[in-house]
Amino acid sequence: MKSYHSLIVIVLLFLAQSCFVDQNTGKNEEGETLTTLNIYTDRHYPIDDTIFRQFEKLNSVKINVVKGKSEDLLNRIDKEGAATKADIFLTADVGRIYQAKANGFFQPMQLPENINFVPDYLYDEDGFWVGITKRARVIVHAKDFDASNLNDYEDLVLPEFKGQIAVRSKENIYNQSLLAAIIANNGEDAALDWVKGVVANMYQSPKGNDRDQVKAVYAGNASIAIVNTYYMGHMLTSDDPEEVKAAKSVKVLYPNQENRGTHVNISGGGVLKHSKQNALAEKLFDFLLSENVQGMYADGNFEFPVRAGIPVSEVVAQWGGFKEDNTPLESIGRRNTQAIKLFDIGGWK
Ligand code: FE2
Repeated sequence: MKSYHSLIVIVLLFLAQSCFVDQNTGKNEEGETLTTLNIYTDRHYPIDDTIFRQFEKLNSVKINVVKGKSEDLLNRIDKEGAATKADIFLTADVGRIYQAKANGFFQPMQLPENINFVPDYLYDEDGFWVGITKRARVIVHAKDFDASNLNDYEDLVLPEFKGQIAVRSKENIYNQSLLAAIIANNGEDAALDWVKGVVANMYQSPKGNDRDQVKAVYAGNASIAIVNTYYMGHMLTSDDPEEVKAAKSVKVLYPNQENRGTHVNISGGGVLKHSKQNALAEKLFDFLLSENVQGMYADGNFEFPVRAGIPVSEVVAQWGGFKEDNTPLESIGRRNTQAIKLFDIGGWK
């Protein structure tokens, strides 16, 4: 055990000394310009930067990250065409992954070795995209609220919940994918009725982000909110005591456990068509699927690892396990436009 630890120390010292990367110039300590991998991403989580810095050190390369909203990044990739410097597109939603693939923005990658630890439905077998994390879109409700009739997403339309629901706008891609999953499972007519029913039960016209919906419940303005689980994780561990109190005031409910399961979305991405760095890009995807990085996504961002056998964070574990909706991800991604149309018709702002 002792020799194992000293080996780790030696390796870390070696890495620290040999693989310095200047973040401004992209040069190493010898002044050599390093190969640069350009990533366009809409993931807005600090853990991603930590992960990219580790990859830089391990491989003596520079990772240049361009952050933005996924629709803006996709427009940019389209406009830049063959002149784009971007090698990888990463996004926090399967609808955007599908859009990038359908628009021909990706090239097939050689699936990395670590893909063997990832269930089939979480990546494209032709290598156009790979999921890196999962996220569940759940219902939360005030702890003192009688939620005995609230089990499924479909129950949100019950008249007894009038004026009780806090949820963000139709512009939000997570909501679009949730509705796309409802269309895929229940059909378009039922999905439209669902939109109208939820709109009728909202406490106000949608405003703010997922955290704001939980805060609305804490403030007593609503009793039920729709939220991605990792935001609950961030709120419960926040430096802001008000966020902690808000998150502690609600109970997490995994919907549809007696039938199809809770809606699960993925973060992921692919190698862009015009990238000449495919080997390095594939190496990065392999790294993102490694045990170590999958654990970092779980502990640092409260997401669900796509790799089998990696534990979720303790914060997430306290809500118990749950059954996932296994509707194929591309069939959700493909229904994004239809979902936006139904939100419009049904009056979801
Ligand atoms: Fe998010």
